[in-house]
Amino acid sequence: MVSYDRIAKLSLERGFYFPSSEIYSNAPAGFWEYGPNGNNIKNKFIELWRRELVRRDDMVEIDGAQIMAKNVFVASGHIDNFSDPVIVCGKCKSILRADKYILEKTGINVPERMSNNEMDKILNQYNLKCPKCGLLFQKSEQFNMMFKVGIGPNNDEAYLRPETCQSIFVDFNRIFKIMRGKLPFPIAQVGKSFRNEVAPRQSLLRLREFYQAEIEIFCNPNQLDTISKFDEIQDTTLTIMEGTKVKKLTAKEALDTKIIPNKLIAYYLSILNEFYEKTGIDMNQTRFRKLSDQEKAFYATIAFDFEFNTSVGWLELVACNYRSNFDLSQHSKISKEKMEIMDPVTNEKVLPHVFELSLGIDRSIYSILEQSFKEDYENNRVVLKLKPYLAPVLAAILPLVKKPELEEIAKNIYYNLKKDFDIYYDGSGSIGRRYRRLEEIGVPFAITVDYDTPNDRTVTIRDRDTMEQRRIEIKDLKSFFEKNRTP
Ligand code: GLY
Repeated sequence: MVSYDRIAKLSLERGFYFPSSEIYSNAPAGFWEYGPNGNNIKNKFIELWRRELVRRDDMVEIDGAQIMAKNVFVASGHIDNFSDPVIVCGKCKSILRADKYILEKTGINVPERMSNNEMDKILNQYNLKCPKCGLLFQKSEQFNMMFKVGIGPNNDEAYLRPETCQSIFVDFNRIFKIMRGKLPFPIAQVGKSFRNEVAPRQSLLRLREFYQAEIEIFCNPNQLDTISKFDEIQDTTLTIMEGTKVKKLTAKEALDTKIIPNKLIAYYLSILNEFYEKTGIDMNQTRFRKLSDQEKAFYATIAFDFEFNTSVGWLELVACNYRSNFDLSQHSKISKEKMEIMDPVTNEKVLPHVFELSLGIDRSIYSILEQSFKEDYENNRVVLKLKPYLAPVLAAILPLVKKPELEEIAKNIYYNLKKDFDIYYDGSGSIGRRYRRLEEIGVPFAITVDYDTPNDRTVTIRDRDTMEQRRIEIKDLKSFFEKNRTP
């Protein structure tokens, strides 16, 4: 398996991602930029998510504001509960994540909902000390992870959203009405969220500003088993971990054995699974981990984490939470707006419940890069075997040598097709070196204009993975590209 460091090196060198404000020594940690190649992969990943989840399931998508009123987060519980446990050293003022430090020193896994009192008992029992100055630690505390911002000249208190879905909850009634919604009614959103992590780490894996693709499915809690779309996915195989047991079973078996509590959750976990299959990650290295009560976020009553096994361990890519009517009832209470709707299917007045698929885009991109990276020792090359529809560039157009006759044809092909496809012209360097550059950023096809082209109007298509070449007529390139950019 390729190491985290190797992917980080490739990303810096090839412009997938790199630290923000990197020319300044006081740049804060946890903020990263996507360069041109990384940005293209990210956009294509989002487009795949739209295709395989949003459009597949007739969802609606919104784009909400990133700064939201304080009361949104009073209602959502984030002001009171959205915190990480920390230990602040009384002597040297070092700050550590209490749960991570306890795990490192004692091997004890600190669940999400463990109280500070319980953590303090572990600190004392194991005589844990400050790694910098040696002071014995006594107490942990909670650090709220939201970024507070001041609005206007009066510096009115507001917050950067720590999860995109709060816009979906506060907008729900309007969207349901204008879109003439029926339950279950999924609303999707892609956007940035912000968390003031105590210890951001490993580039895209723990960021302070990050991309989420969230789907909030509003549903009637009395109709969780009437979803007819379940039939479409009942044979989808899922890997589910409960406690320490891992099982591979179909959605139907998961439902029959009650590992998944209802058809609605089974359906959405299955289409999520099918989406990740299309990204090219090895599904044998994925699992839905059912969280225990201690591990769940404060708003969740049922939770599965969709995880992928990377070189740095299992990574949570998607939090799948049944949030009940927690958010809508809280927003209704604090805003004094009524949030119930008439379910047009059952004619009942309900305050909908919510099941969410909260996907971390940056971690998914990292996982895809790690999965695609192949070192081909035999041919002395590095190849990023990305699916063509996720590659930053679909094809490069290359004149075999620097000869005006070949360059003119290659440029014509490029100019004729560049508006329709992500293609790229590269006329400099030896052909071998050009192929190597393309393979490293995952370009699936290299189109070469050679000495035969002026006579027979054909070019070669070189396949990134097999390195095989075949001839194709220039006039057929458009349909070839069209076919290959579609999942
Ligand atoms: N909306 C759930 C999360 O951000 O984790």
